[in-house]
Parts: sequence; structure tokens; C-alpha cells
Amino acid sequence: MTDSSILKVVEGGVMTLQFHRPDKKNAITADMYQALADGLIEATSDDSVRLVTIIGSDSAFCAGNDLKDFLENPPHQDDSPVWQFLFALASCTKPMIAGVNGPAVGIGTTLLLHCDLVVASSSAVFALPFTSLGLCPEAGSSLLMPEQIGLKKATEWLLLGERFNNRQAEQAGLINLAVETAADVEQQLQQWQQKLLKLPAESVHATRELLRGSSRKQLVDRIKEEGEDFKKLLDGDAAKAAFEAFLKR
Ligand code: COA
Repeated sequence: MTDSSILKVVEGGVMTLQFHRPDKKNAITADMYQALADGLIEATSDDSVRLVTIIGSDSAFCAGNDLKDFLENPPHQDDSPVWQFLFALASCTKPMIAGVNGPAVGIGTTLLLHCDLVVASSSAVFALPFTSLGLCPEAGSSLLMPEQIGLKKATEWLLLGERFNNRQAEQAGLINLAVETAADVEQQLQQWQQKLLKLPAESVHATRELLRGSSRKQLVDRIKEEGEDFKKLLDGDAAKAAFEAFLKR
């Protein structure tokens, strides 16, 4: 499926998936999750795709799940697009790199845990407001965050939901590089793309599988476990009240 709010371009061995819903800060709807899932599945199976680049716009990476969608169409089915996307993220065998400008909220941050190289500009604002929305972590973030940045920092950001910037994200090890501008982000992505494309594909594949592949089953199990809690919490009074409050601002 294609969705005009997700732009997909495949060129020179690179699949670029771009959030393109600027009026809603790139918040993700079910159709967008489906388009993202389809793109990642295609990237994994298409030998001509060497790597995936995930970007937003200069003013917003992704404001997380569309909260109106969560309220009106909660993803209770196991094959709902959001879950398809999360499993596609965990199962993608090609390197994924991402560039962040502006807000990266909820899944906008947790998807970065699945990416191999991430650069963010000083406009980036990261937030994981799951608990204040009456929800819990998703996308395997309850496993990947402590692994990547340590339990204490993961607790601070996942339990308290405090916002943080590109320098804090770099210092913690959530992203690889903090830069100043959107142009710097673009330049860094191009450098990484060129470097990766010059390396032997088999070596890149073997290295990435050694780094990520061996813990994939555990990750998929954690996404399912989180999903069970998440689905129950979505129906709870706290979540409904939080979504309604946001939409009525
Ligand atoms: N779901 C639905 N709509 C969203 C959205 C979301 N997650 N995030 C932003 N939007 C919409 C706003 O409702 C607004 O729509 P409107 O112009 O029709 O009123 C538009 O996008 C612009 O958002 P706004 O809040 O005015 O921009 P901002 O720059 O002041 O703030 C954010 C940006 C991302 C910090 C803020 O929108 C926000 O906190 N969004 C919710 C994030 C969230 O909780 N995501 C879910 C995580 S599970």
C-alpha cells in the first residue's frame, strides 16, 4: 500500500522513507504505518536495496501516533498496521539510518532504537510521554532503551517522560551524532549512505546480523508483550482522558 503521507523513493541502492504530513507534525495514522511496514518488508526482500533512510521534514521528524486515530480506531487486532510496522522494524535486515529535526515523540523516538546510525539537529526534541498518556513503552523500547543507554537513563526518559535534546541524546548513546542544522543532518546522512554503499554488501549484512540478528527473537517477544499491555491501556480511562485533552486543546 502507498500513502501520500509517507514518501518512498528507491534510488542508487537507498530506500528513503519520509514522513510527509507536515500539518500534523508527521503524526502517524494507520495508513502511514501500513505504508512504512510495506516499505520495510520490500527493503528486506529486494536485493537492490542496500540500506534504508528514514527522515521527516526540516521542522518535524514525527509527533508519534496520531492520537485521534488511537481514540477512534484503537489497534486491537494483532495484524493492525501499527503492529505490522513494529515487526517489520524489528525484522528488517538492511541497515537503517535516520535524520531527526524537530519533534520526535513516542514512536518517533522509539523507532530510532532500531536504526543503526542516527543524526539529529539542535531543533530536535525527543519525548516518550507514554506514562502521562496512560500508556506503556512500545516498539521493544523497554528492552532496547536500557540496552542502549542504561537502565537509569531509560527509566528517566520512559517513566518520567521528560523531554531531551540532541546533545543529551548523543551523550546517552541514543543517537550517534548531534549537529546544528537540518543541512548538517542531510550532509551526514549522505556521508553515511556513501560509506555504506561502498562496503561489500555481504560484509555489511553479516555485521548487522551479528549485531542485531541474534537478539531478534527476544525483541519480537518483547514487542508482543508490550503490545498486550499497550492494548489494554488504550482502553483505560487514563489514556482516553489524555487523548481527549490533547485533541481539545
Ligand atoms: N496526533 C494527532 N495530532 C497531532 C499529534 C498527534 N500525535 N501531534 C501533533 N498533532 C497536530 C496538532 O493537533 C495540531 O493540529 P491542528 O493544527 O489541527 O490543531 C498540529 O498537529 C500541530 O501541532 P502543535 O501541537 O500545534 O505543534 P507544536 O509545534 O506546538 O507541538 C508537538 C508539537 C509534537 C510537541 C505537540 O504537537 C505534541 O505534543 N503532540 C503530541 C505528541 C504525542 O503525545 N504523541 C503520541 C505519543 S504515543
